[in-house]
Amino acid sequence: MKRGTFITFEGIDGVGKSTQLDLVYQKCLQLGHAVIKTREPGGTELGRRIRQLLLDPGMAKINAQTEMLLYAADRAQHVAEVIAPALDMGNVVLCDRYLDSTVAYQGYGLDRDPVLIRLINELAVGGILPQITLCLDEEPELALKRTKGDRIEQRDLDYYRKVRLGYHQIAQAEPERFVLIDASGTIDQVFEKIWSVIAERGIL
Ligand code: TMP
Repeated sequence: MKRGTFITFEGIDGVGKSTQLDLVYQKCLQLGHAVIKTREPGGTELGRRIRQLLLDPGMAKINAQTEMLLYAADRAQHVAEVIAPALDMGNVVLCDRYLDSTVAYQGYGLDRDPVLIRLINELAVGGILPQITLCLDEEPELALKRTKGDRIEQRDLDYYRKVRLGYHQIAQAEPERFVLIDASGTIDQVFEKIWSVIAERGIL
């Protein structure tokens, strides 16, 4: 059976990636693709509960390794229950965050080994990797003005600078898959940049 197309969206909080994912979703519908949108953490019933734990500002004592493994656990369930079946049916799957978020946020952001975190997550996803990852890129000073302050978003600017640098490292290591998109400009302008990358690479 033909495998579908897997596209993931990345970027620091407040950068506008969920808005852009929605626009790509609408465009896919217009083009007649069978498409689903989903997100991490929280793309399954189990994941929604894990998400509540992870983002609750009252849950102050989550150890860094525990946090990393909870994101990986959410992902393992999400792949098994939602992503792999949808790809098997030939769908386009648009996912708001995936394993690069854990490498950037729990690896680079929390000063943990990004290589080991990537390996653990490869185990979690059973070899299912996106054809392309679109990472919206913006200064944390600007992006964080649009956030609401959940447990992760309460971290300081230095943390987000490291997360952003992490995304830049991934882009350098995997330029074919992981594309940085300048998030400055209007919503429409950013969407045009995203769509031109998708079109140029013949992804959809
Ligand atoms: P969201 O706001 O984009 O839905 O993501 C929820 C928060 O979880 C956001 O602050 C980013 C963070 N996060 C990680 O720290 N590691 C991960 O692996 C994922 C998927 C999200």
